[in-house]
Amino acid sequence: MSKGVLKVFSEVAHLYELVNHILTFGLDIPWRKKAARVAASGGGSLWLEVCSGTGEMAVNLKELATPQTRIILSDFSMPMISRASKKVELREASISLADSQQLPFPDNIFDLIVISFATRNITPTQEKLTEFFREFHRILKPGGRFVNLETSQPSSTPIRIAFRLYTKQVVKLVGKIISGSKTGYVYLAHTIPRFFKADVLSDILYESGFLKVKYITMTFGAVAIHRAVK
Ligand SMILES: C[S@@+](CC[C@H](N)C(=O)[O-])C[C@H]1O[C@@H](n2cnc3c(N)ncnc32)[C@H](O)[C@@H]1O
Repeated sequence: MSKGVLKVFSEVAHLYELVNHILTFGLDIPWRKKAARVAASGGGSLWLEVCSGTGEMAVNLKELATPQTRIILSDFSMPMISRASKKVELREASISLADSQQLPFPDNIFDLIVISFATRNITPTQEKLTEFFREFHRILKPGGRFVNLETSQPSSTPIRIAFRLYTKQVVKLVGKIISGSKTGYVYLAHTIPRFFKADVLSDILYESGFLKVKYITMTFGAVAIHRAVK
């Protein structure tokens, strides 16, 4: 478990949703909705959201789930996940305090695993990311789906430069001013330009054992949704 990442999210938990909405001009809301639609489209009775934070993605999943679908949320930060547990929409969801690198679930049980805006935080290296993805692969049923919503790298050079400048200058400063966390948004801003391009992330998913990897990008490639099958 990364103690640094845990500290960052525990520090910013109280204003996490507000800061996200401000920094993305509210676009994180349609991005999550789209990813939830991609994720829910295959159905299934047991869904897991890993690194679920304050539960915003889980609320979208819940809206699309059938009454028979059981949703489990897991995260290693108590301040983040306790906010999810207070959301009325999630009162029937099961909540688990767990490190996503070692999930407390048996092999081959989930129809769907979703992660949003967390892959970037859990993975300083490609090797580490492959280990995380293999853990998700382990607990998915054969034929189960993995859906990953994450920031990406716009393919147009001018847009990529503008996106990096915005991240470097604005995300750090505004995040710090609003959340009061000196280190939290410095860390988050630092991880965005270093994250993998969408096609490289597809290769890493294949390398981790997944099949049929597909992705779509949104907002000039600033974010990508990957879908993969076990
Ligand atoms: C940027 S937030 C994203 C939260 C949520 N998925 C969303 O879309 O808003 C990243 C979350 O991942 C969690 N996290 C990071 N590394 C983790 C790990 N190794 N195990 C479990 N949770 C982790 C953090 O505690 C935090 O809640």
